[in-house]
Order: sequence, then C-alpha cells, then structure tokens
Amino acid sequence: MSGTIEGFGLGLRTEHYRDFVAAPQAVDWLEVISENYLVEGGKPLHFLDRIRRDYPMVMHGVSLSIGSVDALDAGYLRQIKALADRIEPAWVSDHLCWTGAGSLNLHDLLPLPYTEATLRHLVPRVAQVQDILGRPLVLENVSSYVAFRADEMSEWEFIRELVTRTACELLLDVNNVYVSSVNHGFDAQHFIDALPPAAVRQIHLAGHEDHGRYLVDTHDQPVCEAVWKLYVDTVRRLGHVPTMIERDDHIPPLPELISELDVARSLARRALDDTRHAA
Ligand SMILES: [Fe+2]
Repeated sequence: MSGTIEGFGLGLRTEHYRDFVAAPQAVDWLEVISENYLVEGGKPLHFLDRIRRDYPMVMHGVSLSIGSVDALDAGYLRQIKALADRIEPAWVSDHLCWTGAGSLNLHDLLPLPYTEATLRHLVPRVAQVQDILGRPLVLENVSSYVAFRADEMSEWEFIRELVTRTACELLLDVNNVYVSSVNHGFDAQHFIDALPPAAVRQIHLAGHEDHGRYLVDTHDQPVCEAVWKLYVDTVRRLGHVPTMIERDDHIPPLPELISELDVARSLARRALDDTRHAA
C-alpha cells in the first residue's frame, strides 16, 4: 500500500547507511534508487529493510525507458513491483526519457521528441506500467543538451498533455529545468508555471557544472544560487511539495547534506509565509 509523505528528504546513498542506522537524522523521508535493491540478499537490501523501519521512503528508477520504441521490460517491472510490495513506498518514480533502443542501453537519460506521435506512443506504455504497479507512475523531467527538429511543442506543453492523458504524476527536478533553460534559452519560471500544480508529487534539487555557454547536470556539488531562487518561486506557485537534495557523486558526509537540506527547509518556509501574507 502506498501512502503519502511530507517534508524534506535525501537520496539514500551507500556512504550513509551506517549513519541512518546509528542515530536518528533530521531527514523526513528517503528516496532509494530502485535498481540498487532488485537482487535478493546482500548488504544493500539488509540496510534497506533496517532503515525502512525508521523512515518513509519513495522509489526512484533509472531504467524504465518509458519513451523507448522497445517493448517495456516485463521482468524489470515485476522486480520493481516486488520491491514496492516489500518497502511500501509513498510512490514510484522514473524519468520521462528513453535510455536506449534495439537492446542497446546507452546508460543515459535521453530527451524525447515533443510530438503528438511521441504522446501517442507514451500513453499506453504509462498505462501498462501503472496497471502493473497498481499506482500512478511519477515521471521526472530530464535535463537536456539537444532538441529535436521534429519538436511540435515545448517540453512543458508536452508534459502537461501527458499528465492529462495518463493521470501520471510529476517529479519536478528544479535543477533540470534550470539546466535545460540555460542550454536551450527558455524561461525556467515559465516552464514551472505551466505545469499542472496538483500533479507535482515531489521536487528534486541538485547541483550542476557551469561551462559558461552551457550547463552539465552532474549532481556532484551543492545547489547553486540560481536554482535556490527558482525553488523559492516554485514553492510560491505550488505550495509545499516534498523536496529532496539529490547528490549522486562526490557524496559528502551526511551532516553536510542535512545542512543543505536545512537551507531548503528555511527557504520553503519563508516562501510559504510570503504567500500567506500576500493572500
Ligand atoms: Fe532529478
């Protein structure tokens, strides 16, 4: 059974397993990378079960490849369902992307062409996943560096239409919106304003590398000033949405990430206060 979560979370990383077991941490919930826990037995599943006793969790996958032209991997979906039955996450997410085709896995979260044909391709696939999981699929916007000449609509129009047609939900990665907005020259705030507020289930915050003319989504450093600002505007628009810091590389000691999470807490609180006073 799924539930709901509130507040501020972190991605559970191997480096912090023992911290979470040793003492209560100022983290409201944890996001786990589904693929790390699909094999029976071993250390990851042992720690997962142990830590789950103390923290609500959400599951986040990287291999669904919902946009690929290959058939969905039924075996993989069965494993995801089994893990969901085991840890009862508040929700299950993956990315609005494709990761390969014709059995070639590119191990990257690649953007889709934003066309009517892609929407028609995605709708039954999202329905199939939701049927198997028995819950809404939560999809995350990816960062991108190239766009398709075939695009018929903006990314936000595409996402909005997908939500309408499938009742999927959204994991809004504010950093990804910012990275893509710089790389493609669109207004990040406009992207966020265009999303259907009720569909946004979770927010990711992360760091990226600034290469001057373009940004690379690396998740290996603290959240930058521009992304914090966009987060504040997002909270003003959407109200409180469960938010987490997503760090995938150069993992710092847990207290450092918790301090960064505290920045998110206080910015969100201030943004919500501003909204209340303005009302
Ligand atoms: Fe993300």
